Amino acid sequence: MTVHFIGAGPGAPDLLTLRGRDLIAACPVCLYAGSLVPEAILAHCPEGARIVNTAPMDLDAIIAECETAHKAGRNVARLHSGDLSVWSAMGEQIRRLKALDIPYSVTPGVPSFAAAAASLGAELTLPGLSQSVVLTRTPGRASKMPDGESLANFAATGATLALHLSIGNLGSAVADLTPHYGGDCPVAIVYRASWPDEKIIRATLATITDQVDASIARTALILVGQTLSGEDFTESRLYAADYDRRYRPQTADSPWSEWQHGDD
Ligand SMILES: C[S@@+](CC[C@H](N)C(=O)[O-])C[C@H]1O[C@@H](n2cnc3c(N)ncnc32)[C@H](O)[C@@H]1O
Repeated sequence: MTVHFIGAGPGAPDLLTLRGRDLIAACPVCLYAGSLVPEAILAHCPEGARIVNTAPMDLDAIIAECETAHKAGRNVARLHSGDLSVWSAMGEQIRRLKALDIPYSVTPGVPSFAAAAASLGAELTLPGLSQSVVLTRTPGRASKMPDGESLANFAATGATLALHLSIGNLGSAVADLTPHYGGDCPVAIVYRASWPDEKIIRATLATITDQVDASIARTALILVGQTLSGEDFTESRLYAADYDRRYRPQTADSPWSEWQHGDD
């Protein structure tokens, strides 16, 4: 018996991996984080499966479900939105499962920042503008930020920022970021990326707060950085016609020629 943690993706039911879909179909128990996991994904559960929305449950109750399934030898599909590596609460569940000697597996999902970038048609790392993406958040009612992980510290690098769980703190985020990025820095807010009611707002740090109304609440990502302009970047060397590389040696003397002929 195994508890299979599965990243359910950002919202669109077809942004689930094939592995995730097949595991859901093979598990007689499904625990899903109902606040963000789309119900359409539950259609993959086998007939008669025990399907439990864990949104109103506490950690003890969720682990009790896993223990009951473990005793009955029933595999569990444990669904969380997006990918499991960020803000999924998987870590605390795994710690409990390990203590109980209950096996688990982890299947990744499409993270919301990638879905938001796709909706914008944007590459978040552009040569000459930014080569890093910081996935972060602002403090919430239940979550402090560790010392050192301030927006100002991240902003000082000039990296593209993907702010999660922060739409309610938009005003203070803008105030923290503007001294570093400048008021004309592009910002995009993607509300419910990949859901049918997705909304996109493009603005600058100087104008974004005026453009967001109360309908943009909770499930939204704030992306900040020069890469969002999609302009004024250099082309990558990778595809430059004169770039000597493993898959495209430019001369017979190229160190890559030998490799191409079977040395690697
Ligand atoms: C608890 S975190 C879950 C993150 C998730 N594990 C992931 O991989 O993206 C919830 C936050 O992720 C972001 N989020 C999740 N799904 C989203 C979506 N479809 N569109 C925009 N933002 C989303 C929002 O910032 C939301 O407040």
